[in-house]
Amino acid sequence: MATVDWTADANEALTLSLVRAEEDKQVLGGEETYEEFHPTFTYPIYGEDEKIYGYQDLVIDLRFTSGSLAQYLSVRYAQKLDASTTVDNVEGILKEFIPSDYDTDEAAFFTRVREDAVSFKPIGSVINTYTRPVPSTSGSRSATEEVVEYEVYHVTWNDPGFREYHRRMQIFILLYIEAGSYINEDDDAWHFFVLYEKRKRQNGTKTYHFIGYSSVYKFYCFPEKHRLRLSQFVIVPPYQHQGHGSELYKTIYNYALITPLISELTVEDPAEAFEDLRDRNDLRMLLANENFMKEGFSNEAVSHGGGKVQKRKTRARANPMGASSGMVKGTGKMGPPIDKAWSEMFRTQLKMAGRQWQRLMEMLILMHLN
Ligand code: ACO
Repeated sequence: MATVDWTADANEALTLSLVRAEEDKQVLGGEETYEEFHPTFTYPIYGEDEKIYGYQDLVIDLRFTSGSLAQYLSVRYAQKLDASTTVDNVEGILKEFIPSDYDTDEAAFFTRVREDAVSFKPIGSVINTYTRPVPSTSGSRSATEEVVEYEVYHVTWNDPGFREYHRRMQIFILLYIEAGSYINEDDDAWHFFVLYEKRKRQNGTKTYHFIGYSSVYKFYCFPEKHRLRLSQFVIVPPYQHQGHGSELYKTIYNYALITPLISELTVEDPAEAFEDLRDRNDLRMLLANENFMKEGFSNEAVSHGGGKVQKRKTRARANPMGASSGMVKGTGKMGPPIDKAWSEMFRTQLKMAGRQWQRLMEMLILMHLN
């Protein structure tokens, strides 16, 4: 007789979804708004080997209302072992990581979903908005001429209701960032940037749907400035690879740039995918900076168009931007050797961290040599 395996993979068993009200679901054209997704990590919750013992066909159904992130938890399985000492207490363990007011009654949860559509408004103040065409997966609607709006909110613990909101969204840090952990709610130095999709309902009201967020720590920096350290950053899977991470990063960077008392933006222990996102956006920003490019590569003509530097003579080979850089050979301030005082002047002006600036200079020189 075949032996029965009572061990479940916690990353597969834990099934997440962001649920929005019916009308919005129709506006978006189908099931993709209920798309289920899975965590990358569950070891902070279910232990190092990410296994759950004692069940067959285990599903840990953790749903969030798409705006206020109110939660619903249902644990289902085909069979459970009868040995109470060795069987993992799935709900009991997860309970430690989410607020206690989650629903276990599906009808009550759907009521919250409908309430969300009417009454949920993001906390904090809008600091950036952008639009995108309606996603092409949107099914029935003719999507081509319509745009969806996105808004980034800047929030601190001082904004009423934000502590409770943060307790609902912080689980995404554990589930998607390696070595991610919950932050100290008593520390006032935290700032948050939360990104939402904003949809218009047929009656003209707006609904908001959570996409991701970043936690940023404000360090005192002698003698009178502050350094911003980007610490946590997550875009939930249904929204990844659509440019939202880049928009959120640029918003935080611009916030640092225009806030007089902030001296630079640093990043704490970036994951590879984040480092890549940061490099691409920082490079794009530098390539679009006319003064920097003119002075850096002054010996040959460069023209600026559409945020990209166009090369007049020969085209450069592939570069880290994934396209032709258009960089020309020249001996401006970028050298070689690079003019250090000039480079430092731009670094401070652009509020870039030293190590990141070095990386960017190296990338630009490589692109240049190509
Ligand atoms: N269509 C298709 N692809 C696109 C589009 C588009 N419209 N727009 C951008 N892309 C591509 C980009 O070119 C990029 O390609 P690459 O992966 O080859 O570099 C890729 O999508 C990612 O760029 P974005 O869409 O701007 O980024 P995304 O929204 O996917 O967010 C992030 C990236 C933050 C890493 C996300 O995947 C995530 O949250 N991951 C899990 C958590 C994590 O690792 N966080 C960072 C930890 S480090 C820290 O916190 C400091």
